[in-house]
This record gives sequence, C-alpha cells and structure tokens, in this order.
Amino acid sequence: MTTFNELIKRRRTIRKFTEELLSPSEVELILKSGLMSPASKNRNSWEFIVVEDKEVLSKLAKSKSHGSNVLSQAAIAVVVTANPLVSDVWTEDASVATIIMQLQAEDLGIGSCWVQIRERETEHGISSEEYVKEILDIPLHIQVLSIVAFGKKNEIKTPFDEEKLQWEKIHIEKW
Ligand SMILES: Cc1cc2nc3c(=O)[nH]c(=O)nc-3n(C[C@H](O)[C@H](O)[C@H](O)COP(=O)(O)O)c2cc1C
Repeated sequence: MTTFNELIKRRRTIRKFTEELLSPSEVELILKSGLMSPASKNRNSWEFIVVEDKEVLSKLAKSKSHGSNVLSQAAIAVVVTANPLVSDVWTEDASVATIIMQLQAEDLGIGSCWVQIRERETEHGISSEEYVKEILDIPLHIQVLSIVAFGKKNEIKTPFDEEKLQWEKIHIEKW
C-alpha cells in the first residue's frame, strides 16, 4: 500500500497520455474525491463538468495561448467551475478540489495536468474563461478556475528528491 508521503513524492504533472480510456470506476473515484473536497463553510461552491468527447477536448485544448494543448490527448477532462454567489472564496474551494482530484488520480496510477483557465487568455486575446463557457454552455454567473486533464501516463517523471527541498522557504516563529 502506498503511504500518503509516497503519493505526495510521486505526484508529478503528466502532459503525455496513451490512448487508453479510463474505466468507469476510475472516473467515479476521481469525481467522488472532488465531491469530498473541503470547502469554506461547507458550502461546496464547486460544480464539475466531465468531458470525454474528443472534438470538445480538442476545442478546450485551444483555451490558452500556451499550456492547454495537453487536453487534446486526455482520456477525460474535468472542468472545475464554481459559483461565486455561493462562496466569496470560490477560488480556494475550486483549487482544493482540483488538487484533491489530481492526488486521487495519482493514487490510481493515472496521470493528470492542471490547466489554469482563470485569468488566462486564448492566442486571440479572448478570456480563456469566456471561451470555455461558450463551448460548454456554462451559465453567466459561474466561474471557471481550471480544467484537469486525466489519462494513462505516457511519460515517466522522477519523484521529488527530498534532498532538494527549498527549506529556505520555511520560517521558524517569525519571517
Ligand atoms: C495553479 C496552477 C496552474 C497550472 N497551470 C498549468 C497549465 O495551464 N498548463 C500546464 O501544462 N501545467 C500547469 N500547471 C502545472 C505546473 O506547471 C506544475 O505543477 C509545475 O511545473 C510543477 O511540476 P509538478 O506538478 O510535476 O511538480 C499548473 C499548476 C498549478 C498549481
């Protein structure tokens, strides 16, 4: 059994996927982990859109000028959105859900990549959020934080080297 510490060390961003699909039970576990993510005041401001359609994935891959191409290879993508009317800290809620799903995927040996949408633009200078909202019929008041690409790994990334951690970023008692 993998310990949580091993999982944290092993998790790396994966941007190359095989063509293999994920099983329904794998997808279910990933979605369940999103739904069990902690959220401010337990208000669960997030909403998730699961995309498996290759044509839609190809369109989503053009959400940004850089860093969204990975979506074209994904077996599935989960678009992480949230309702700012439900929580003023929806960004934090949606970020926590994003990483929790990535960790669940890693535990299943599935690779993932966080594609940032909020505050980003397409190559044509359109807001990435507006671009994604249009493709997926997302209501006006809902915000899009990220899209997570998931798939079977087609690259090997080395785990973190504990000898190289940035301990200088840890301040004891005072800055
Ligand atoms: C807030 C955030 C936004 C990110 N956005 C992107 C992105 O748009 N495209 C991408 O390929 N990777 C993205 N990443 C992945 C980072 O590039 C990656 O986590 C970082 O380089 C460290 O590598 P590691 O995840 O393998 O440890 C993002 C990660 C975070 C936490």
